[in-house]
Amino acid sequence: MIPLRSMIKAALIAGARPNFIKIAALEHAFRQYGRFENLLIHTGQHYDAKMSDIFFRQLGMPEPDLYLGVGSGSHAAQTARVMTEIEPVFQTHRPDVVVVVGDVNSTVATALTAKKLHLPLVHVEAGLRSFDRSMPEEINRMATDAISDWLYVSEPSGMTHLLAEGQPADRVVFAGNVMIDSLRRFEDRALATMEHTKRGLEAGRYFLITAHRPAMVDVPERLAMFAEALLGLADQAPVIFPIHPRTASKLRDLPVGARLEAHPDVHLAEPIGYLEFMCLMMHAGLVVTDSGGIQEETTALQKPCVTVRPNTERPVTVDEGTNVLMDLDAAAIVEAGRQALSGAWKPGRIPELWDGHASERIARHLAAQLPG
Ligand code: UD1
Ligand code: UDP
Repeated sequence: MIPLRSMIKAALIAGARPNFIKIAALEHAFRQYGRFENLLIHTGQHYDAKMSDIFFRQLGMPEPDLYLGVGSGSHAAQTARVMTEIEPVFQTHRPDVVVVVGDVNSTVATALTAKKLHLPLVHVEAGLRSFDRSMPEEINRMATDAISDWLYVSEPSGMTHLLAEGQPADRVVFAGNVMIDSLRRFEDRALATMEHTKRGLEAGRYFLITAHRPAMVDVPERLAMFAEALLGLADQAPVIFPIHPRTASKLRDLPVGARLEAHPDVHLAEPIGYLEFMCLMMHAGLVVTDSGGIQEETTALQKPCVTVRPNTERPVTVDEGTNVLMDLDAAAIVEAGRQALSGAWKPGRIPELWDGHASERIARHLAAQLPG
């Protein structure tokens, strides 16, 4: 008789908004594959309903098996709290493999804890580098990659960086982009929300904005300059700006915050659900952001995007996609808005393996690596 292969217990770790979108794709693919028993762990780094619960619901994820409730804090406090909360969970449940995604504090904290317990560790979205060590995410990316056993890469630059850093070639796999798996799986449902119409916005004739990087929003002068750019954009077409909780209080403290609120064509909003946000992105004339994930989603949707940062860890979005990096220069951002509305934007192409099947490739590859 051929012995049945045993199930692989996979701990899937999600802490912050971008994690939920990536883990949703992996959780689904692992479940479909049939050899994984998922242990879904939510660290609680993001906890507001609009930053967390809504993603679980809309992305068809089960309730987390464990919720660690770590909450907010300084980098050290938050990282330490994830480590002390997750260590006994790993000791009790002894997963066969731990899967972390992205570059947030929950990612690096989990990675360190898992490896000190000798648990096999997978990093999905490995190898991205901005080469800007003032970004907390760059430190998280480098530290996580350095100790991961399998590294699944979303774009060619990731392969180059990891191999240059000396990672063994048989541990580094170009799998594609799991964030885009979720986008492809849910795009019909996103379109069906008709969120732009509900908000009175005309397709192709509005600007969608997000901002949450400390380098932009924690420096009052920079946030004020960004707000001036939005006022300039709003003189051309409506601006919709769902505000990240990090940004909300900072903006409220600035005089220009009141001017934004008073402008008839600036729509300030709380964070928006995944499906509604995708719908707004699909119909926007231009997206202006400092987000990591949104650079990728706009490239996958072939939508014009301005990333207000001096660098990106996702260069394929600039080299092949619709993304343009820009200094925090209000006049230049306003001019980009004019160009996008006139239809004069580089078309971009969808990067290799951003095809909606990255998580399936990861499930297949990983199952073959683990003894069964
Ligand atoms: C985190 C990640 C960042 C990621 C972003 C995605 C780190 C170091 N940063 O940044 O890489 O791009 O998430 O959105 O991991 N807050 C709330 N409600 C919440 C969550 C946060 O009010 O549900 C507020 C708190 O005041 C908190 C602040 O937002 O102090 C920042 O939250 P935190 O998770 O520390 O960092 P983010 O800026 O969200
Ligand atoms: N997003 C959303 N609602 C919002 C803003 C963002 O659903 O109001 C989604 C969007 O898909 C984005 C993802 O959340 O790609 C990641 O969020 P964020 O920009 O906070 O994180 P980053 O990718 O910069 O780490």
